[in-house]
Amino acid sequence: MTSTITPATPSPTAPTTPSPNLPAIGPDMSLIREAILAGDTSPRDFANLPIPSSYQGVTLHEADIHMFEGLATADKDPNLSLHLDDVPTPILGPGEALIAVMASSINYNTVWSSLFEPVPTFEFLHRYGRLSPLAKRHDLPYHVVGSDLAGVVLRTGAGVTAWQPGDEVVAHCLSVELESPQGHNDSMLDPEQRTWGFETNFGGLAQLSLVKSNQLLAKPSHLTWEEAACPGLVNSTAYRQLVSRNGAGMKQGDNVLIWGASGGLGSYATQYALNGGATPICVVSSQEKADICRSMGAELVIDRSAAGYRFWKDPQTQDPNEWRRLGADIRKLTGGEDVDIVYEHPGRETFGASVFVARKGGTIVTCASTSGYMHEYDNRYLWMNLKRIIGSHFANYRESYEANRMLDKGMIHPTLSKTLPLAQTGKAVREVQQNKHQGKVGVMCLSPKEGLGVRDHQKRAQFQTAINRFREA
Ligand SMILES: NC(=O)c1ccc[n+]([C@@H]2O[C@H](COP(=O)([O-])OP(=O)(O)OC[C@H]3O[C@@H](n4cnc5c(N)ncnc54)[C@H](OP(=O)(O)O)[C@@H]3O)[C@@H](O)[C@H]2O)c1
Repeated sequence: MTSTITPATPSPTAPTTPSPNLPAIGPDMSLIREAILAGDTSPRDFANLPIPSSYQGVTLHEADIHMFEGLATADKDPNLSLHLDDVPTPILGPGEALIAVMASSINYNTVWSSLFEPVPTFEFLHRYGRLSPLAKRHDLPYHVVGSDLAGVVLRTGAGVTAWQPGDEVVAHCLSVELESPQGHNDSMLDPEQRTWGFETNFGGLAQLSLVKSNQLLAKPSHLTWEEAACPGLVNSTAYRQLVSRNGAGMKQGDNVLIWGASGGLGSYATQYALNGGATPICVVSSQEKADICRSMGAELVIDRSAAGYRFWKDPQTQDPNEWRRLGADIRKLTGGEDVDIVYEHPGRETFGASVFVARKGGTIVTCASTSGYMHEYDNRYLWMNLKRIIGSHFANYRESYEANRMLDKGMIHPTLSKTLPLAQTGKAVREVQQNKHQGKVGVMCLSPKEGLGVRDHQKRAQFQTAINRFREA
């Protein structure tokens, strides 16, 4: 990952040129950090802090979008496409908030954006820019990425009454305009629905970030900055996909097959299944990952590497015998029962098997296609057995609030396994791309070290073991 130097006057449209001499933090940013670390700075003092004219953020450059052409996906290295740049602070618009970011985390969408797959995210920024002069601010030749943050409100725009400078917050990643009737039952259906830091600019892998105020949620008081920053996107997604009536509507007693059960999404889906009186059947790819699922309380675990499933005989042909073998392995664990819900996201590689193993009348709920989005399955198993496939995507504000509330109550815990500094974001993204991580990988932004930001130590003490579960894996 490259780094750049702070310009005397930042350009309004482009990041600056590389230099190894970038100071870690400028004087205005230092004041902001000190005010946050003090822990008792008043809202008025926060409101009077000067806002730096520029800040460090992890960016993609539009000029780089062809850099990986001809390479296999696995050979595309995010270290080469992600930069640490000093970029101008955006002007705050109505309904928005400027946040000092203490910590962020890596989501798989930053893997996709850093590989410029399936399309360069600049296409999203251009499209958004055509919407309005306010949206045009996002359409820049660089893209500050990242869809999670924990931090402190510095300024709010016109019309914002629910939040004020000094509020300690996390941000969910749903950006909506809500000018159309379509989004008013479920804001995920807004025609202008976007993922902040992926389809919009000024994301969370940075020292400052711009969000809509209706992305904000109170930071759970018992968590550190880095713990609070890691669940947002995946926790909310898992809540909608598995628990919400907009998703699978899981109920007590359900058997839930969870692919990647110790990964970003899976580590929260597993917790929701256990909390909700369901039985997770966790699929993972190593003994260490199996152990971590057991430590969360899951009893039924399949190590897909040890089992050696080959759902595809060759890139075009699936092997139904391997679907059957998975189904038989599930029945061995459940005492003969099939699964009510399949929690899907690997996509092409597993989807045929997922449709097959769901029980008669069961549900396959999907939010992604990590291994390929052209899925193939035998439709006879779907229609003859009255199964349903449900598409699910992120979560609306209410669902994100519910998911954050569960964290705040200590009913769901962060699954942070490690953190890296902002300057090593490329390394962190590469680890996630290569599936070398457990749970979530955090990124330290303004927070100078781990362990800061806990406001309720008594509450934390009750949940200490669960909070650190993935750390010790
Ligand atoms: N639509 C949405 O709102 C939304 C939200 C969040 C994420 N996503 C997408 O969901 C996907 C997963 O995200 P994540 O954060 O959970 O990523 P993650 O942390 O990498 O976890 C995914 C896990 O899936 C398993 N997996 C990967 N490839 C597999 C394959 N071919 N067959 C079986 N299992 C496989 C791996 O676990 P094992 O190796 O242990 O089996 C991996 O740890 C990504 O594509 C992401 O972009 C979508």
